[in-house]
Amino acid sequence: MEFTIKSGSPEKQRSACVVVGVFDNRKLSLSAELVDRASNGYISEIIRRGDMEGKLGSTLLLHNVRGTLADRVLLVGLGKERDFRDKEFRAAIRAAVKLLNETGSYEAVIYLTEEKVKRREVAWRIEHAVVVAMDAVYRYERLKSDPTEVRRPLRKLTLSVPQRSDLADGERAALHGVATGHGMEFARDLGNTPANICTPTYLGEQALALGRQFPDVKVSVLERPQIEELKMGSFLSVAQGSDEPPRFLVLEYMQSPRKTKPVVLVGKGITFDTGGISLKPAADMDHMKFDMCGAAAVLGTMRAIAEIKAPINLVVLVPACENMPSGHAVKPGDVVTSMSGQTIENLNTDAEGRLILCDALTYAERYEPEAVVDVATLTGAMVIALGHVACGVFSNNDALARALLQAGDDAYDRGWQLPLWDDYQEGLASNFADFANVAGRAGGSITAACFLSRFTRKYDWAHLDIAGVAYKEGKEKGATGRPVAMLTRWLLTQGDAAVS
Ligand code: BES
Ligand code: MN
Ligand code: ZN
Repeated sequence: MEFTIKSGSPEKQRSACVVVGVFDNRKLSLSAELVDRASNGYISEIIRRGDMEGKLGSTLLLHNVRGTLADRVLLVGLGKERDFRDKEFRAAIRAAVKLLNETGSYEAVIYLTEEKVKRREVAWRIEHAVVVAMDAVYRYERLKSDPTEVRRPLRKLTLSVPQRSDLADGERAALHGVATGHGMEFARDLGNTPANICTPTYLGEQALALGRQFPDVKVSVLERPQIEELKMGSFLSVAQGSDEPPRFLVLEYMQSPRKTKPVVLVGKGITFDTGGISLKPAADMDHMKFDMCGAAAVLGTMRAIAEIKAPINLVVLVPACENMPSGHAVKPGDVVTSMSGQTIENLNTDAEGRLILCDALTYAERYEPEAVVDVATLTGAMVIALGHVACGVFSNNDALARALLQAGDDAYDRGWQLPLWDDYQEGLASNFADFANVAGRAGGSITAACFLSRFTRKYDWAHLDIAGVAYKEGKEKGATGRPVAMLTRWLLTQGDAAVS
Protein backbone atom coordinates (compact mmCIF):
# COMPACT_ATOMS: atom_id res chain seq x y z
CA MET A 1 0.00 0.00 0.00
CA GLU A 2 1.11 3.52 -0.76
CA PHE A 3 0.85 6.35 1.80
CA THR A 4 0.90 10.13 1.45
CA ILE A 5 0.52 12.92 3.99
CA LYS A 6 -1.73 15.90 3.40
CA SER A 7 -3.23 18.87 5.17
CA GLY A 8 -6.59 20.28 4.03
CA SER A 9 -10.36 20.27 4.48
CA PRO A 10 -12.29 16.99 4.17
CA GLU A 11 -15.15 18.42 2.08
CA LYS A 12 -12.65 19.58 -0.54
CA GLN A 13 -10.96 16.24 -1.17
CA ARG A 14 -11.42 14.73 -4.64
CA SER A 15 -11.21 11.13 -3.49
CA ALA A 16 -13.02 7.80 -3.67
CA CYS A 17 -13.63 8.11 0.08
CA VAL A 18 -13.11 10.54 2.90
CA VAL A 19 -12.95 9.00 6.40
CA VAL A 20 -14.06 11.04 9.43
CA GLY A 21 -14.67 10.15 13.07
CA VAL A 22 -17.72 10.30 15.33
CA PHE A 23 -17.38 10.10 19.11
CA ASP A 24 -19.74 8.24 21.42
CA ASN A 25 -22.41 9.51 22.05
CA ARG A 26 -23.16 11.02 18.61
CA LYS A 27 -20.53 13.75 18.91
CA LEU A 28 -18.98 14.85 15.62
CA SER A 29 -15.21 15.17 15.39
CA LEU A 30 -13.89 18.40 13.91
CA SER A 31 -13.53 16.88 10.44
CA ALA A 32 -17.01 15.30 10.60
CA GLU A 33 -18.26 18.74 11.59
CA LEU A 34 -16.70 20.26 8.45
CA VAL A 35 -18.38 17.64 6.24
CA ASP A 36 -21.64 18.27 8.10
CA ARG A 37 -21.50 21.99 7.45
CA ALA A 38 -20.63 21.56 3.76
CA SER A 39 -23.58 19.18 3.37
CA ASN A 40 -26.05 21.40 5.20
CA GLY A 41 -26.35 19.15 8.21
CA TYR A 42 -26.62 15.82 6.36
CA ILE A 43 -24.25 14.04 8.79
CA SER A 44 -26.01 15.27 11.92
CA GLU A 45 -29.33 14.30 10.36
CA ILE A 46 -28.13 10.72 9.84
CA ILE A 47 -26.77 10.63 13.36
CA ARG A 48 -30.08 11.86 14.74
CA ARG A 49 -31.79 8.92 13.04
CA GLY A 50 -29.60 6.64 15.17
CA ASP A 51 -27.53 4.96 12.44
CA MET A 52 -24.17 5.99 13.93
CA GLU A 53 -23.80 6.27 17.70
CA GLY A 54 -20.00 6.57 17.67
CA LYS A 55 -19.30 3.20 19.26
CA LEU A 56 -15.60 2.36 18.84
CA GLY A 57 -14.94 0.55 15.57
CA SER A 58 -18.46 0.95 14.13
CA THR A 59 -18.66 2.18 10.53
CA LEU A 60 -21.23 3.76 8.21
CA LEU A 61 -20.52 4.26 4.52
CA LEU A 62 -22.34 7.16 2.79
CA HIS A 63 -22.47 7.82 -0.95
CA ASN A 64 -22.68 11.12 -2.84
CA VAL A 65 -22.77 13.37 0.20
CA ARG A 66 -23.79 16.77 -1.17
CA GLY A 67 -21.39 19.67 -0.75
CA THR A 68 -18.35 17.35 -0.79
CA LEU A 69 -16.07 16.41 -3.70
CA ALA A 70 -15.55 12.78 -2.64
CA ASP A 71 -17.53 9.80 -3.98
CA ARG A 72 -18.05 8.48 -0.46
CA VAL A 73 -17.85 9.54 3.16
CA LEU A 74 -17.02 6.86 5.73
CA LEU A 75 -18.07 7.58 9.31
CA VAL A 76 -16.01 5.69 11.90
CA GLY A 77 -16.99 5.39 15.58
CA LEU A 78 -14.21 6.52 17.93
CA GLY A 79 -15.78 5.65 21.30
CA LYS A 80 -15.89 8.06 24.21
CA GLU A 81 -13.78 11.14 23.54
CA ARG A 82 -12.15 11.15 26.97
CA ASP A 83 -11.13 7.46 26.55
CA PHE A 84 -9.53 7.98 23.14
CA ARG A 85 -6.01 6.57 23.66
CA ASP A 86 -3.47 4.37 21.85
CA LYS A 87 -5.65 1.26 21.72
CA GLU A 88 -8.78 3.14 20.61
CA PHE A 89 -6.93 5.09 17.92
CA ARG A 90 -5.52 1.89 16.48
CA ALA A 91 -8.90 0.12 16.63
CA ALA A 92 -10.57 2.98 14.73
CA ILE A 93 -7.89 2.95 12.02
CA ARG A 94 -8.15 -0.83 11.74
CA ALA A 95 -11.94 -0.72 11.37
CA ALA A 96 -11.69 1.97 8.69
CA VAL A 97 -9.00 0.19 6.67
CA LYS A 98 -10.74 -3.21 6.86
CA LEU A 99 -13.93 -1.67 5.53
CA LEU A 100 -12.21 0.40 2.83
CA ASN A 101 -10.41 -2.72 1.63
CA GLU A 102 -13.79 -4.33 0.98
CA THR A 103 -15.49 -1.38 -0.73
CA GLY A 104 -14.95 -0.25 -4.32
CA SER A 105 -12.52 2.50 -3.31
CA TYR A 106 -8.92 1.68 -4.04
CA GLU A 107 -7.87 4.99 -2.52
CA ALA A 108 -9.04 7.12 0.44
CA VAL A 109 -8.23 10.14 2.61
CA ILE A 110 -8.28 9.42 6.35
CA TYR A 111 -8.96 12.24 8.82
CA LEU A 112 -8.81 10.06 11.95
CA THR A 113 -5.10 10.95 12.19
CA GLU A 114 -6.14 14.48 13.14
CA GLU A 115 -7.79 13.34 16.38
CA LYS A 116 -5.85 14.04 19.56
CA VAL A 117 -4.52 10.95 21.33
CA LYS A 118 -3.40 11.43 24.95
CA ARG A 119 0.41 11.78 25.34
CA ARG A 120 0.97 11.28 21.58
CA GLU A 121 2.19 13.65 18.88
CA VAL A 122 1.12 13.78 15.25
CA ALA A 123 4.15 11.66 14.22
CA TRP A 124 3.00 8.87 16.53
CA ARG A 125 -0.49 8.94 15.00
CA ILE A 126 0.85 8.78 11.44
CA GLU A 127 3.35 6.00 12.15
CA HIS A 128 0.72 3.90 13.91
CA ALA A 129 -1.92 4.52 11.26
CA VAL A 130 0.52 3.20 8.64
CA VAL A 131 1.59 0.14 10.66
CA VAL A 132 -2.01 -0.73 11.57
CA ALA A 133 -3.21 -0.28 7.97
CA MET A 134 -0.51 -2.60 6.61
CA ASP A 135 -1.26 -5.09 9.37
CA ALA A 136 -5.00 -5.00 8.65
CA VAL A 137 -4.75 -5.82 4.93
CA TYR A 138 -2.04 -8.50 5.33
CA ARG A 139 -2.91 -11.93 3.98
CA TYR A 140 -0.87 -15.11 3.56
CA GLU A 141 -2.14 -16.67 0.35
CA ARG A 142 0.87 -18.02 -1.50
CA LEU A 143 -0.20 -21.62 -0.90
CA LYS A 144 -3.88 -21.22 -1.84
CA SER A 145 -4.71 -22.43 -5.33
CA ASP A 146 -7.58 -19.93 -5.50
CA PRO A 147 -6.57 -16.84 -3.47
CA THR A 148 -9.54 -15.02 -1.92
CA GLU A 149 -8.74 -12.10 -4.19
CA VAL A 150 -10.10 -8.83 -2.81
CA ARG A 151 -11.85 -7.37 -5.86
CA ARG A 152 -10.74 -3.77 -5.47
CA PRO A 153 -8.15 -3.71 -2.71
CA LEU A 154 -7.13 -0.49 -1.01
CA ARG A 155 -3.98 0.68 -2.80
CA LYS A 156 -3.40 4.20 -1.60
CA LEU A 157 -4.10 5.94 1.70
CA THR A 158 -3.74 9.65 2.29
CA LEU A 159 -3.34 10.54 5.96
CA SER A 160 -4.38 13.99 7.05
CA VAL A 161 -2.45 16.15 9.53
CA PRO A 162 -3.97 19.22 11.23
CA GLN A 163 -1.46 21.79 9.97
CA ARG A 164 0.94 22.36 7.09
CA SER A 165 3.73 22.60 9.67
CA ASP A 166 3.01 18.94 10.58
CA LEU A 167 3.76 17.71 7.05
CA ALA A 168 7.51 17.12 7.50
CA ASP A 169 7.10 15.19 10.77
CA GLY A 170 4.21 13.29 9.24
CA GLU A 171 6.18 12.26 6.18
CA ARG A 172 9.11 10.96 8.19
CA ALA A 173 6.73 9.11 10.50
CA ALA A 174 5.05 7.51 7.48
CA LEU A 175 8.45 6.37 6.19
CA HIS A 176 9.24 4.76 9.53
CA GLY A 177 5.76 3.23 9.60
CA VAL A 178 6.15 1.72 6.13
CA ALA A 179 9.59 0.30 7.00
CA THR A 180 8.24 -1.18 10.25
CA GLY A 181 5.23 -2.54 8.35
CA HIS A 182 7.49 -4.17 5.75
CA GLY A 183 9.59 -5.68 8.54
CA MET A 184 6.46 -7.10 10.15
CA GLU A 185 5.16 -8.47 6.83
CA PHE A 186 8.51 -10.16 6.24
CA ALA A 187 8.43 -11.67 9.74
CA ARG A 188 4.81 -12.82 9.32
CA ASP A 189 5.51 -14.43 5.93
CA LEU A 190 8.45 -16.35 7.39
CA GLY A 191 6.42 -17.40 10.44
CA ASN A 192 3.39 -18.50 8.43
CA THR A 193 5.38 -20.50 5.88
CA PRO A 194 5.02 -24.17 6.82
CA ALA A 195 8.02 -26.10 8.07
CA ASN A 196 8.24 -28.27 4.94
CA ILE A 197 9.11 -25.09 3.02
CA CYS A 198 10.54 -22.88 5.78
CA THR A 199 13.57 -25.04 6.61
CA PRO A 200 16.89 -23.79 7.99
CA THR A 201 18.12 -23.75 4.37
CA TYR A 202 15.14 -21.59 3.36
CA LEU A 203 15.82 -19.14 6.21
CA GLY A 204 19.39 -18.84 4.95
CA GLU A 205 18.16 -18.17 1.40
CA GLN A 206 15.73 -15.53 2.68
CA ALA A 207 18.57 -13.79 4.56
CA LEU A 208 20.70 -13.79 1.40
CA ALA A 209 17.78 -12.37 -0.59
CA LEU A 210 17.44 -9.61 2.03
CA GLY A 211 21.12 -8.82 1.51
CA ARG A 212 20.57 -8.52 -2.24
CA GLN A 213 17.59 -6.20 -1.73
CA PHE A 214 19.48 -4.04 0.81
CA PRO A 215 23.19 -3.94 -0.13
CA ASP A 216 24.04 -2.29 3.22
CA VAL A 217 23.23 -5.65 4.82
CA LYS A 218 26.14 -8.11 4.54
CA VAL A 219 24.97 -11.69 4.90
CA SER A 220 26.85 -14.93 5.53
CA VAL A 221 25.17 -18.28 6.01
CA LEU A 222 27.33 -20.81 7.83
CA GLU A 223 26.83 -24.52 7.15
CA ARG A 224 27.54 -27.57 9.30
CA PRO A 225 31.33 -27.76 8.78
CA GLN A 226 31.76 -24.12 9.78
CA ILE A 227 29.40 -24.54 12.74
CA GLU A 228 31.47 -27.55 13.82
CA GLU A 229 34.64 -25.52 13.50
CA LEU A 230 33.14 -22.92 15.85
CA LYS A 231 32.56 -25.77 18.36
CA MET A 232 28.85 -24.99 18.75
CA GLY A 233 28.31 -28.38 20.35
CA SER A 234 25.07 -27.40 22.05
CA PHE A 235 23.44 -26.05 18.87
CA LEU A 236 24.63 -29.08 16.88
CA SER A 237 23.21 -31.50 19.47
CA VAL A 238 19.72 -30.16 18.73
CA ALA A 239 20.30 -30.26 14.97
CA GLN A 240 21.62 -33.84 14.94
CA GLY A 241 18.18 -35.50 15.04
CA SER A 242 17.03 -33.95 11.78
CA ASP A 243 17.68 -34.73 8.12
CA GLU A 244 17.52 -30.99 7.42
CA PRO A 245 21.01 -29.48 7.73
CA PRO A 246 21.41 -26.61 10.24
CA ARG A 247 22.33 -23.06 9.29
CA PHE A 248 23.87 -20.19 11.25
CA LEU A 249 22.89 -16.82 9.79
CA VAL A 250 25.03 -13.72 10.28
CA LEU A 251 23.74 -10.36 9.02
CA GLU A 252 25.81 -7.22 9.52
CA TYR A 253 24.59 -3.68 8.95
CA MET A 254 27.33 -1.20 9.87
CA GLN A 255 26.06 2.28 9.07
CA SER A 256 26.99 4.28 12.14
CA PRO A 257 29.09 7.30 11.10
CA ARG A 258 31.31 6.61 14.11
CA LYS A 259 33.13 3.53 15.36
CA THR A 260 30.33 2.57 17.73
CA LYS A 261 29.98 -1.01 18.94
CA PRO A 262 27.05 -2.82 17.35
CA VAL A 263 23.84 -3.97 18.91
CA VAL A 264 23.43 -7.71 18.36
CA LEU A 265 20.00 -9.31 17.96
CA VAL A 266 19.75 -13.09 18.27
CA GLY A 267 16.65 -14.97 17.08
CA LYS A 268 15.58 -18.54 17.88
CA GLY A 269 15.27 -20.32 14.54
CA ILE A 270 13.73 -23.72 15.32
CA THR A 271 11.88 -24.29 12.05
CA PHE A 272 9.89 -27.09 13.67
CA ASP A 273 9.84 -28.21 17.30
CA THR A 274 8.54 -31.75 17.81
CA GLY A 275 10.14 -31.80 21.24
CA GLY A 276 12.67 -34.38 20.02
CA ILE A 277 12.90 -37.63 22.02
CA SER A 278 10.98 -35.77 24.80
CA LEU A 279 8.19 -35.72 22.20
CA LYS A 280 5.39 -33.16 22.43
CA PRO A 281 1.73 -34.29 22.51
CA ALA A 282 -0.07 -34.29 19.14
CA ALA A 283 -2.65 -31.57 19.92
CA ASP A 284 -1.72 -28.24 18.32
CA MET A 285 1.74 -29.44 17.40
CA ASP A 286 1.37 -27.57 14.10
CA HIS A 287 1.91 -24.38 16.16
CA MET A 288 5.53 -25.41 16.43
CA LYS A 289 6.16 -24.23 12.86
CA PHE A 290 6.07 -20.81 14.57
CA ASP A 291 9.09 -21.76 16.71
CA MET A 292 11.30 -19.69 14.38
CA CYS A 293 9.33 -16.47 15.03
CA GLY A 294 12.23 -15.07 17.07
CA ALA A 295 14.42 -15.47 14.00
CA ALA A 296 11.69 -13.97 11.82
CA ALA A 297 11.40 -10.96 14.16
CA VAL A 298 15.11 -10.15 14.17
CA LEU A 299 15.30 -10.56 10.38
CA GLY A 300 12.22 -8.33 10.04
CA THR A 301 13.83 -5.76 12.31
CA MET A 302 16.97 -5.81 10.17
CA ARG A 303 14.77 -5.19 7.11
CA ALA A 304 13.07 -2.22 8.80
CA ILE A 305 16.37 -0.65 9.91
CA ALA A 306 17.92 -1.12 6.46
CA GLU A 307 14.90 0.46 4.75
CA ILE A 308 15.02 3.44 7.13
CA LYS A 309 18.81 3.64 6.54
CA ALA A 310 19.25 4.27 10.26
CA PRO A 311 22.79 5.44 11.16
CA ILE A 312 23.51 2.57 13.54
CA ASN A 313 25.52 -0.65 13.72
CA LEU A 314 23.35 -3.74 13.91
CA VAL A 315 24.18 -7.44 13.78
CA VAL A 316 21.58 -10.20 13.54
CA LEU A 317 22.42 -13.81 14.43
CA VAL A 318 20.13 -16.77 13.82
CA PRO A 319 20.89 -20.37 14.78
CA ALA A 320 18.44 -22.40 12.67
CA CYS A 321 17.60 -26.10 12.81
CA GLU A 322 14.77 -28.58 13.37
CA ASN A 323 14.14 -30.38 16.67
CA MET A 324 13.28 -33.94 15.62
CA PRO A 325 13.24 -37.41 17.21
CA SER A 326 15.29 -39.98 15.30
CA GLY A 327 17.98 -42.63 15.68
CA HIS A 328 20.49 -39.81 15.62
CA ALA A 329 18.66 -37.52 18.01
CA VAL A 330 20.13 -36.26 21.27
CA LYS A 331 18.75 -38.24 24.25
CA PRO A 332 17.72 -37.21 27.77
CA GLY A 333 20.80 -37.46 29.95
CA ASP A 334 23.25 -36.72 27.12
CA VAL A 335 25.92 -34.19 28.05
CA VAL A 336 27.12 -31.72 25.42
CA THR A 337 29.82 -29.05 25.37
CA SER A 338 28.71 -25.58 24.37
CA MET A 339 30.86 -23.13 22.40
CA SER A 340 31.57 -21.37 25.72
CA GLY A 341 33.20 -24.55 27.02
CA GLN A 342 30.49 -25.06 29.63
CA THR A 343 28.97 -28.56 29.66
CA ILE A 344 25.21 -29.07 29.67
CA GLU A 345 23.16 -32.09 30.70
CA ASN A 346 20.13 -32.36 28.41
CA LEU A 347 17.37 -33.42 30.78
CA ASN A 348 14.54 -32.56 28.39
CA THR A 349 15.12 -32.44 24.66
CA ASP A 350 12.06 -30.18 24.34
CA ALA A 351 14.01 -27.40 26.07
CA GLU A 352 15.97 -26.99 22.82
CA GLY A 353 15.63 -23.25 22.23
CA ARG A 354 18.09 -22.33 24.98
CA LEU A 355 20.51 -24.94 23.63
CA ILE A 356 20.77 -23.26 20.23
CA LEU A 357 20.64 -19.71 21.62
CA CYS A 358 23.49 -20.23 24.08
CA ASP A 359 26.03 -20.85 21.30
CA ALA A 360 24.78 -17.84 19.32
CA LEU A 361 25.12 -15.73 22.49
CA THR A 362 28.73 -16.87 22.84
CA TYR A 363 29.35 -16.08 19.16
CA ALA A 364 28.03 -12.55 19.84
CA GLU A 365 31.03 -11.87 22.14
CA ARG A 366 33.28 -11.31 19.12
CA TYR A 367 31.48 -8.04 18.35
CA GLU A 368 32.17 -6.58 21.81
CA PRO A 369 28.54 -5.52 21.57
CA GLU A 370 26.90 -2.41 23.00
CA ALA A 371 24.03 -4.72 23.96
CA VAL A 372 22.65 -8.11 22.96
CA VAL A 373 18.93 -8.87 22.77
CA ASP A 374 17.72 -12.38 22.06
CA VAL A 375 14.18 -13.05 20.89
CA ALA A 376 12.63 -16.49 21.27
CA THR A 377 9.42 -18.48 21.52
CA LEU A 378 11.16 -20.05 24.48
CA THR A 379 8.63 -21.34 27.02
CA GLY A 380 5.00 -22.41 27.25
CA ALA A 381 5.11 -21.00 30.79
CA MET A 382 5.41 -17.51 29.27
CA VAL A 383 1.96 -17.91 27.70
CA ILE A 384 0.56 -18.87 31.10
CA ALA A 385 2.24 -15.91 32.82
CA LEU A 386 1.46 -12.99 30.48
CA GLY A 387 -1.00 -14.44 27.97
CA HIS A 388 -1.03 -13.01 24.47
CA VAL A 389 -0.65 -9.33 25.41
CA ALA A 390 2.92 -8.69 26.57
CA CYS A 391 6.13 -10.57 25.93
CA GLY A 392 8.45 -11.35 28.83
CA VAL A 393 11.48 -9.09 29.27
CA PHE A 394 14.52 -10.31 31.24
CA SER A 395 17.79 -8.44 31.54
CA ASN A 396 21.09 -8.25 33.40
CA ASN A 397 20.89 -4.45 33.05
CA ASP A 398 17.87 -2.53 34.31
CA ALA A 399 18.46 0.51 32.08
CA LEU A 400 18.39 -1.75 29.03
CA ALA A 401 15.18 -3.40 30.23
CA ARG A 402 13.59 0.00 30.82
CA ALA A 403 14.54 1.21 27.34
CA LEU A 404 12.96 -1.87 25.77
CA LEU A 405 9.80 -1.52 27.86
CA GLN A 406 9.55 2.14 26.86
CA ALA A 407 10.02 1.29 23.17
CA GLY A 408 7.36 -1.40 23.50
CA ASP A 409 4.95 1.09 25.03
CA ASP A 410 5.59 3.63 22.25
CA ALA A 411 5.20 0.97 19.57
CA TYR A 412 2.12 -0.63 21.18
CA ASP A 413 4.14 -3.86 21.12
CA ARG A 414 4.53 -4.25 24.83
CA GLY A 415 6.72 -6.25 27.18
CA TRP A 416 6.71 -6.79 30.92
CA GLN A 417 9.78 -7.37 33.04
CA LEU A 418 10.32 -10.52 35.09
CA PRO A 419 13.08 -11.07 37.67
CA LEU A 420 16.38 -12.77 36.98
CA TRP A 421 17.41 -13.11 40.62
CA ASP A 422 20.13 -15.62 41.55
CA ASP A 423 17.62 -17.47 43.71
CA TYR A 424 16.13 -18.87 40.50
CA GLN A 425 19.47 -20.28 39.29
CA GLU A 426 19.64 -23.16 41.77
CA GLY A 427 17.24 -25.47 39.91
CA LEU A 428 19.66 -25.83 37.01
CA ALA A 429 22.16 -27.84 39.09
CA SER A 430 23.35 -31.12 37.54
CA ASN A 431 25.21 -34.11 38.98
CA PHE A 432 26.81 -34.88 35.64
CA ALA A 433 27.63 -31.62 33.88
CA ASP A 434 28.19 -27.93 34.72
CA PHE A 435 24.42 -27.50 34.70
CA ALA A 436 21.22 -28.88 33.19
CA ASN A 437 18.96 -27.38 30.51
CA VAL A 438 15.80 -27.50 32.67
CA ALA A 439 14.85 -26.79 36.26
CA GLY A 440 11.39 -28.18 36.96
CA ARG A 441 8.02 -26.61 36.18
CA ALA A 442 7.94 -23.73 38.66
CA GLY A 443 8.98 -20.38 37.16
CA GLY A 444 9.84 -22.10 33.86
CA SER A 445 10.25 -18.88 31.88
CA ILE A 446 12.59 -17.42 34.49
CA THR A 447 14.76 -20.52 34.82
CA ALA A 448 15.04 -20.60 31.00
CA ALA A 449 16.29 -17.00 31.13
CA CYS A 450 18.66 -18.02 33.96
CA PHE A 451 20.10 -20.70 31.68
CA LEU A 452 20.79 -18.06 29.00
CA SER A 453 22.27 -15.67 31.57
CA ARG A 454 25.16 -18.12 32.01
CA PHE A 455 26.27 -17.28 28.48
CA THR A 456 25.86 -13.50 28.60
CA ARG A 457 28.16 -12.41 31.43
CA LYS A 458 30.43 -10.40 29.13
CA TYR A 459 27.89 -7.82 27.92
CA ASP A 460 24.60 -6.04 28.63
CA TRP A 461 21.87 -8.42 27.59
CA ALA A 462 18.11 -8.72 27.43
CA HIS A 463 15.96 -11.70 26.58
CA LEU A 464 12.48 -11.42 25.09
CA ASP A 465 10.30 -14.52 25.51
CA ILE A 466 7.70 -14.09 22.76
CA ALA A 467 5.96 -17.49 23.05
CA GLY A 468 2.63 -15.80 23.83
CA VAL A 469 2.73 -12.95 21.32
CA ALA A 470 4.49 -14.29 18.19
CA TYR A 471 1.39 -15.88 16.71
CA LYS A 472 -2.38 -16.05 17.10
CA GLU A 473 -4.45 -19.20 17.48
CA GLY A 474 -7.98 -20.05 16.36
CA LYS A 475 -9.78 -18.39 13.48
CA GLU A 476 -7.07 -15.75 13.06
CA LYS A 477 -4.25 -18.30 13.30
CA GLY A 478 -1.03 -16.80 12.03
CA ALA A 479 2.19 -14.98 12.84
CA THR A 480 1.85 -11.44 14.27
CA GLY A 481 5.22 -9.95 13.32
CA ARG A 482 5.87 -9.06 16.96
CA PRO A 483 8.15 -7.69 18.36
CA VAL A 484 9.52 -6.04 15.18
CA ALA A 485 7.84 -2.74 16.11
CA MET A 486 9.28 -2.72 19.65
CA LEU A 487 12.79 -3.57 18.48
CA THR A 488 12.76 -1.08 15.60
CA ARG A 489 11.57 1.69 17.90
CA TRP A 490 14.24 0.78 20.45
CA LEU A 491 17.03 0.75 17.85
CA LEU A 492 15.93 4.16 16.60
CA THR A 493 16.56 5.56 20.08
CA GLN A 494 20.15 4.24 19.95
CA GLY A 495 23.25 6.35 19.33
CA ASP A 496 23.21 8.46 16.19
CA ALA A 497 19.67 7.42 15.31
CA ALA A 498 18.36 8.98 18.53
CA VAL A 499 17.89 12.42 17.00
CA SER A 500 15.51 11.17 14.28
N1 BES B 1 8.98 -23.90 21.57
C1 BES B 1 8.66 -24.29 22.88
C2 BES B 1 7.96 -23.18 23.69
C3 BES B 1 6.57 -22.83 23.23
C4 BES B 1 5.47 -23.46 23.77
C5 BES B 1 6.37 -21.82 22.33
C6 BES B 1 4.20 -23.09 23.38
C7 BES B 1 5.10 -21.44 21.93
C8 BES B 1 4.02 -22.08 22.48
C9 BES B 1 9.93 -24.67 23.64
O1 BES B 1 10.94 -25.21 22.88
C10 BES B 1 9.55 -25.71 24.64
O2 BES B 1 9.13 -26.75 24.25
N2 BES B 1 9.68 -25.37 25.93
C11 BES B 1 9.33 -26.28 26.96
C12 BES B 1 10.37 -26.16 28.03
C13 BES B 1 10.26 -27.20 29.10
C14 BES B 1 10.59 -28.58 28.53
C15 BES B 1 11.21 -26.87 30.22
C16 BES B 1 7.97 -25.87 27.49
O3 BES B 1 7.68 -24.69 27.59
O4 BES B 1 7.18 -26.79 27.77
MN1 MN C 1 10.73 -27.31 22.64
ZN1 ZN D 1 10.96 -24.68 20.89
